Amino acid sequence: MSGGAPGPGVVRDGVRIFDTTLRDGEQAPGAGLTAAEKLEVARQLARLRVDVIEAGFPAASDGDFEAVRRIAQETKGGIAVAALARCRDGDPQRAIDAIRVAERPHLHVFIATSDIHLTHKLRIGREQALTEAVRWVRHGREQLGRDAEIEFSAEDASRTDPEFLLQVYEAVVEAGASTVNIPDTVGYAIPAEFGALVRRVVDRVGRDATVSVHCHNDLGLATANTLAAVQAGARQVEVTINGLGERAGNASLEEVVMALRTRPTQFPDLGSGVQTEQITPASRLVSYLTGFAIQPNKAIVGGNAFAHESGIHQDGVIKNPLTYEIMTPQSVGLAGSQLTIGKLSGRRGLQQKLRSLGHDLEGEALDVIYREAIALADAKKDVTDADLLALVEQRVSEVPASVRVLGWSVTSSHGGRATGTVSLGIHAEERSVEATGNGPVDALYGAVDQALLPVLGWRPVLTEYEIKAVSAGEDAQGQALVRCRRSSDEGPGALVVSGHGLSTNIIEASLDAYLVAVNKLHGAEINGVSVAYVGRRTGNALP
Ligand code: KIV
Ligand code: ZN
Repeated sequence: MSGGAPGPGVVRDGVRIFDTTLRDGEQAPGAGLTAAEKLEVARQLARLRVDVIEAGFPAASDGDFEAVRRIAQETKGGIAVAALARCRDGDPQRAIDAIRVAERPHLHVFIATSDIHLTHKLRIGREQALTEAVRWVRHGREQLGRDAEIEFSAEDASRTDPEFLLQVYEAVVEAGASTVNIPDTVGYAIPAEFGALVRRVVDRVGRDATVSVHCHNDLGLATANTLAAVQAGARQVEVTINGLGERAGNASLEEVVMALRTRPTQFPDLGSGVQTEQITPASRLVSYLTGFAIQPNKAIVGGNAFAHESGIHQDGVIKNPLTYEIMTPQSVGLAGSQLTIGKLSGRRGLQQKLRSLGHDLEGEALDVIYREAIALADAKKDVTDADLLALVEQRVSEVPASVRVLGWSVTSSHGGRATGTVSLGIHAEERSVEATGNGPVDALYGAVDQALLPVLGWRPVLTEYEIKAVSAGEDAQGQALVRCRRSSDEGPGALVVSGHGLSTNIIEASLDAYLVAVNKLHGAEINGVSVAYVGRRTGNALP
């Protein structure tokens, strides 16, 4: 067992969270960060209260050296700053120089120990690997003193001959390592197997050193392996925000931390000190700075992680969130769970959603919006809050329809005029008219005008036309706004009314808006209203 200088103490209470977003995470192809960006992430990691920030690999470049040094200088409050180094001349000294200023320096040296790596990559034998490991651990201890953390990693540990691995760990602990890390470098391990390996290492050196694990996600098992390791006695876990890292990434901090917190009976007295409410801000910051989007169904931090769409689930969550949520959205820094509206949503879910948007609907009014929302969910990918608000507002401005559209068609081509046909029901009468125009909407409005004039004695005169997308995306709903007066009603006091139309088809939306205005004008005529609203003239050209 170790007779060398003891480290600052083996972790006995809880699990130490070693964040390597700024080192292994940054190794993800395309995830490179500037020194200023690394500093920003380090500040957020400090707010998250991880135990160790692995800030980089100082021998890799002067830029990384400087970034690590600045993080080491700035990070306080008991959070350690680690730097990585290969067990070879130059590297460890560079790392030591970068972290020496830290309140809690944490040197991390590594060398591969599997025969695959020794033979094909390093081209050295086991003996030499062992000698180098011991040499550089000893160097680190001598340079940084008894209180510093000296961590040794046996790269590709999970594919290393276990007997040799144990021999290496024993030797480095003897030389002064206070943490021994077991990397599953290529994500090859399976939880039960990895747990058994960790148990052997804990039994051999766990009295004198903290046993750590570092799992990659090549088989999607990084979190599972990390948790199995904790159950087997590991007391440091190396993780990254959003699971960022080489190839398929590393075990994700948010998954491991929330598993420890959510299942205390499986991990008795093994919580972390992480301020979990800072998880979402950390995830967003890392995603933004690295340009790595978070998949919607990513555990804990994905956009759908607390979203409920199907009617059955929405009903359950409304009655009690425990039915479908194993942790609260607030515990990871979100305002609340989301009810999203899709084809399978229920009326109760929609009602709750509309309430959160400020509209308390029930009975027939709710039924109407519900039918429209479900139809919309069939036509477009996401029904957004803006879509729902537009549907509700549309209903609010509904008017009795004496004039209805029975059908329409339009043809329009590059450079030519458009031809539109509209069939209208005007009271009991049905009229179909064809007209031409500059564009499809102009042609259809012309056809409506011609259909109305002989029956009503006036046609609508458009004073304003506007079309806008309700939400983003190719399948967004278009919302048309028109303002019209009667052709028989001229002058500054003329009655001007507005009309809105809403559809994923902007021509349909435009026609609906026009008909709403027509019906308002007609209704006002019947009721003897002469001035209701004086509109502005915008002179917009019709499409
Ligand atoms: O995956 C790995 O083996 C590593 C070590 C350097 C810890 O990142
Ligand atoms: Zn790694």
